[in-house]
Amino acid sequence: MLLFSTSLILAGLAAAQSEWGQCGGIGWTGGTTCPSGWTCVAQNPYYSQCLQSTGSSSIGTTGTVSSTASTSVVGTTTTSSPTSTATLTGIAASAPTIGPSKAVGKLPALGWNAWNAYGCNINEDKILAAANQFISLGLADVGYEYINIDDCWSEMQRDPSTGRIVPDPSKFPNGISGVADQVHALGLKFGIYSDAGTATCAGFPGSLGNELLDATTFAEWGVDYLKYDNCNVPGNWSDSGTPPGGDWYNSNSAIRYRQMTAALNETGRPFQFNLCIWGAANVWDWGARVGHSWRMSGDSSASWGYITNILTTNVQHLSSIDFYSHNDMDMMEIGNGDLTIQEQRTHFAVWSFLKSPILLGTDLSQLNSTQLSIIKNAELIAFHQDPNVGGPASPFTPTPSASSTSPPEFYAGQSSKGIHVFIVNTGSATASKTFNFANVPGLGTGSFLVHDMWAGTDVGKFTDSYTISVEAHDTAALFISPA
Ligand SMILES: *[C@@H]1O[C@H](CO)[C@@H](O)[C@H](O)[C@H]1NC(C)=O
Ligand SMILES: *[C@@H]1O[C@H](CO)[C@@H](O)[C@H](O)[C@H]1NC(C)=O
Ligand SMILES: *[C@@H]1O[C@H](CO)[C@@H](O)[C@H](O)[C@H]1NC(C)=O
Repeated sequence: MLLFSTSLILAGLAAAQSEWGQCGGIGWTGGTTCPSGWTCVAQNPYYSQCLQSTGSSSIGTTGTVSSTASTSVVGTTTTSSPTSTATLTGIAASAPTIGPSKAVGKLPALGWNAWNAYGCNINEDKILAAANQFISLGLADVGYEYINIDDCWSEMQRDPSTGRIVPDPSKFPNGISGVADQVHALGLKFGIYSDAGTATCAGFPGSLGNELLDATTFAEWGVDYLKYDNCNVPGNWSDSGTPPGGDWYNSNSAIRYRQMTAALNETGRPFQFNLCIWGAANVWDWGARVGHSWRMSGDSSASWGYITNILTTNVQHLSSIDFYSHNDMDMMEIGNGDLTIQEQRTHFAVWSFLKSPILLGTDLSQLNSTQLSIIKNAELIAFHQDPNVGGPASPFTPTPSASSTSPPEFYAGQSSKGIHVFIVNTGSATASKTFNFANVPGLGTGSFLVHDMWAGTDVGKFTDSYTISVEAHDTAALFISPA
């Protein structure tokens, strides 16, 4: 039998979380301890965060990291009914309904984000180093495009006369536009971070109530992508029950994001819009009406437990995934922590075949040749970026007698080339994995040519079934064509 308890074992080994990092919440499998002088504070059921312990002065009185979001209610899995059947009252009656740009975001984003590598400790040099490594390491050539900064890029206070968010001059001496210009000069796109609350998770200014001013500022700076977080939500913006008509699109949570969608639209500049809403408010039901991708969980950690947990969550919502519509499994941990190389392969394969945004999250200069070959695998990237097929691979039952597992181990999906099979070995030992071709949706019976997408080589011709040995926590990636 396969073991599924490895996540619990591995989670217990995680190191102390970083300053401002996540340290708990439903589905969280990473560490729960904070650095000295920092305390793990519950923000809502899905998110606990390392905050500076009370008495510290550097946040100041404006660092309202209090848990005002703690009453927000997370949706159930009931299906939503159409908006038109409900009579909307209050803010839902007047909230903007404009959708995200169709000029960008058809395919899941490929890029890099500074958070998993550097947390708050960012500056222009680190951002531009990543951009230059996209070129020198050949990542831009295989499709990586976005260079994104995360929290902690601004000053603690808005400009008192203009009300605008001000870039921290010690981190960004040329402003954000100076960085964006240099990223653009390399042929890449630039992303920024804000929050659908009064302050970001690290206590910097949030955009709730300042959506148009901030969107206009970002557009003037040449920003192409916005990650919009969910910390520090005022109590009157939380959801205390099922929203009108049972449609979570009309929840206060959704409306906080809809206000930013409308503001981004008003700038006239196409933005790719990521809703960092932690899987709350049934976002998979309405996310595509508001943004291009949405987080399904709290923050990732460099642990096998995170990978299997988010996979288990995401397979329940695969029907939400299509062009312009992507469940975000969070930023990559390849290169971080002590994931084995097999686990790093699974991390990349699963994010690819479920069409999650793939934002690398490490110091790229530290990646070795094996890791680079994983993140540059042309066949997996082609599946992820397929211009003709929007949907993900889905679980299938490999043989008539196979029992189901959680998370599922066998997935089949379509690309422009044909049918692919992915097999995740969730067990802690090398295992032999068999599927019947007749059980793969779309294949039928007979003989088939099996091609290994990792190696880029044909394995051979097989009849009726195929058996492969998969190492512990590794993923086989196969292309199957009629022989
Ligand atoms: C704004 O929304 C309108 C109406 O959907 C659309 O035609 C236009 O392309 C959008 N503009 C941007 C920049 O997203
Ligand atoms: C919460 O209160 C603010 C300030 O009065 C107001 O602008 C906002 O519309 C309120 N939000 C909701 C969901 O009613
Ligand atoms: C790269 O690092 C991984 C561990 O993350 C290791 O398993 C692999 O052997 C390394 N590859 C090379 C070429 O050193």
